[in-house]
Amino acid sequence: MSTTEKPATTSTEQTQTEVPAAATSGDEGAKAGPTEVAWDALQHLHAHDPWVNVQLAKARLARYMHPTMCSRGRPVPGTQLEVWYKCDHLRQTGSYKERGALNALLQLTPEEAQRGVIAASAGNHAQALARWGKAVGVPVTVVMPHVAPITKVENCKFLGAEVVLAGRNFGEAKADAEKRCRERGMVYINGYDHPAVIAGAGTCGLEILDQLPDVDAIIVPVGGGGLIAGIALAVKRLNPRVKVIGVESERCPSMCNALRAGKPVFTNVGAGGTIADGLSVSVVGANAFKLVREFVDEVITTTEASISLAILHLLETEKLLVEGAGCAGLAAIMSGRFDHSLRGKKVCTILCGGNIDMTVLGRVIEKGLYSSGRMLQFDCAISDRVGGLAHFMNCLALTGASVKNIMQEHPFISDMGVVAVHLTVETMNAAHARQVVKQMDEQGFKLKLADDKKYSDVNLSRL
Ligand SMILES: Cc1ncc(COP(=O)(O)O)c(C=O)c1O
Repeated sequence: MSTTEKPATTSTEQTQTEVPAAATSGDEGAKAGPTEVAWDALQHLHAHDPWVNVQLAKARLARYMHPTMCSRGRPVPGTQLEVWYKCDHLRQTGSYKERGALNALLQLTPEEAQRGVIAASAGNHAQALARWGKAVGVPVTVVMPHVAPITKVENCKFLGAEVVLAGRNFGEAKADAEKRCRERGMVYINGYDHPAVIAGAGTCGLEILDQLPDVDAIIVPVGGGGLIAGIALAVKRLNPRVKVIGVESERCPSMCNALRAGKPVFTNVGAGGTIADGLSVSVVGANAFKLVREFVDEVITTTEASISLAILHLLETEKLLVEGAGCAGLAAIMSGRFDHSLRGKKVCTILCGGNIDMTVLGRVIEKGLYSSGRMLQFDCAISDRVGGLAHFMNCLALTGASVKNIMQEHPFISDMGVVAVHLTVETMNAAHARQVVKQMDEQGFKLKLADDKKYSDVNLSRL
């Protein structure tokens, strides 16, 4: 296959993300990392061994992309873990998926490369294929579900892929892509189960061990399972002491269900979908599953609220823009899941994607402010007499809460002389929010807090 793009050593992406291993691991001497294997040493090995494929992927990708940054995070509120971030969201198309996509494209025969490739994807794999297909001269068709984030759809078009919107979810988009694949004789590149994609993902694990040789645990978001399969395969082979832990959205626990059932099984995506759209895969990959069962220590789930808080934490504290799927690992850390098992340990979590719609981001920030106790919404009954509202507002001012919105209404209160006020106020943190409620109660005002979970049980697909 002819490649039309030279190794991208001068691209912006690389200048932004390239960090020598020594600089990120605190190792002063720039010696080769433990995963450095000379290309010649591989020639006699069996290329069907998945581990060898990871090594080959590393050698193949090295011509095109540099390692992404791995940096130590600031303290995460409420935990005693030493948290490190592997910043794969800083790749040009905003996700780790470029590793697997390029690794697969570089192994096509000239005939396959000419016919082109096709894949179903909620967005990140599609963008990665589009970018590298263009770079190495392979036509790319991507089938995306109608619910795919607009930014991801637009980026794929911008990167020159043929974009087909089909299906209400990833499963339906995949069925459509497979049909087109058969009709047009293209190669289907599964974004989480193609062996080349898993091997490409494994290179992320190799980089972590180079950059952070004394890491105790690696926490990885899980969708179809390809990322964690590749990472666990690479990491356990080199250092079985390192724990590899997967995190899924509680709205789509397909890997947990597969592990319980002993095989990939269908999992319904919970009501309302998940903010971690990249993790919304109903059936995990068969290849990925086998590797996960063999090499991964544990897979757990995390909540939508924790994912929102993780996005907010990375924005505010680390100045990093990461999408929901990309920070599921941090979400689990922030929810206290590892407080006992990994207390004081060096833990690296992969920030695997940064593609989030700005409108979604706005809602996430707002939700995060509410769930972290920095915004409070409540109703309260106050006196209708002259000065009633002023008295209420004075009491509220003494709590230190800052009023963002206030509305006053009569109709639903049957008691004469009483009026309802509806307020949104800003508070410093959850403790302050509780203090506001308590202090107002002491002044005789019962605040009726708005219930954030009002719609959590509604099946949106039936509305
Ligand atoms: C940002 C992000 N993180 C994590 C994942 C999960 O990867 P996998 O499907 O290989 O488990 C995805 C998958 O698309 C993703 O887009």
